[in-house]
Amino acid sequence: MTHIKIQTPDDWHLHFRDGDMLNETVPATARCFKRAIVMPNLVPPITDANMVVNYRKRILDARPSDNNFEPLMTLYLTNDTTREDIILAKEVGTVAAKLYPAGATTHSDAAVKSLEDLYPIFEEMQEVGMLLLIHGEVTDNHIDIFDREKEFIDRHLTKIVASFPDLKIVFEHITTKDAVDFVLASNDNLAATITPQHLLLNRNDLLAGGIRPHNYCLPVLKRGTHQQALRKVVATGNKKFFLGTDSAPHEKHMKESSCGCAGCYSARSAIEIYTQVFDELDALDKLEGFASHHGADFYGLPRNNGVIKLVKEDWIIPEQIILPNGNTVVPFLAGQKCTWKLKD
Ligand code: NCD
Ligand code: ZN
Repeated sequence: MTHIKIQTPDDWHLHFRDGDMLNETVPATARCFKRAIVMPNLVPPITDANMVVNYRKRILDARPSDNNFEPLMTLYLTNDTTREDIILAKEVGTVAAKLYPAGATTHSDAAVKSLEDLYPIFEEMQEVGMLLLIHGEVTDNHIDIFDREKEFIDRHLTKIVASFPDLKIVFEHITTKDAVDFVLASNDNLAATITPQHLLLNRNDLLAGGIRPHNYCLPVLKRGTHQQALRKVVATGNKKFFLGTDSAPHEKHMKESSCGCAGCYSARSAIEIYTQVFDELDALDKLEGFASHHGADFYGLPRNNGVIKLVKEDWIIPEQIILPNGNTVVPFLAGQKCTWKLKD
């Protein structure tokens, strides 16, 4: 196949950041996605309805004038979150709340220290119909970083899913065969997002032949067998799995450092990379479900009008992007060839 048309897609997991960074990140996503689930891990995090409303407005202000992109807002859960916070956030249109175990990833220090204490909050979310988005990794120092997702399933997720059968839960950016199997075996109220980097790469791409900080993200890339399990499940077209880029920019000097930040900035190439992966899998007919249908259906939102077109054409992902503040960000797969291109 040399070209493909799919219904306009959405990004179900994204980091826009804030301030003048929005002038880069919002247009980059809005070039092909109609909606995106916006992660709340700012400094300080988005923890109440007021912050949601103001952040949403800042995002809309950074939207290109001819574009009707729509941010879908989320609330950052902490052990201080109250039922009232959930109700008020829901009233202003907040779609979901995000659970970061404290210390799991970028800007998660303020997040959840005791998961069990949040059960009344999950109950309220189930009641008002707000989705729960989970960064599913334990954070204990003694648990190997490559085992943290599996440990989270065994220790926490199994119990949450069983305790709240009517709560819609997204197991975010899954990275292991264990997660795939768990989602497949669970009821229809559990789904998962998958990033381009976890479909395209494994931990050799991070560590073999030199450390590649721009492939460093959390959850960290896993061994090839896990990557294969993710690729296999998206190729089946199963509706419980959908697109979430986890595009998460950090300035170059923050990534290329003795203690580099986690996150890949993929927004300017993500839909193309997903298309390349589905092409490699001989599953281009499953791309539209993954990118444009399964997420909207799971969230209970209408599918988008319109289509985007991609053509099979080589192009080179830029080495760097200059941010509005003059600093540089190195995009995911900088300088590498992508075999599919978005057509305007
Ligand atoms: C994200 C970020 O930088 O905000 N980083 C990442 O590696 N994915 C946070 C996250 O989603 O874990
Ligand atoms: Zn993320």
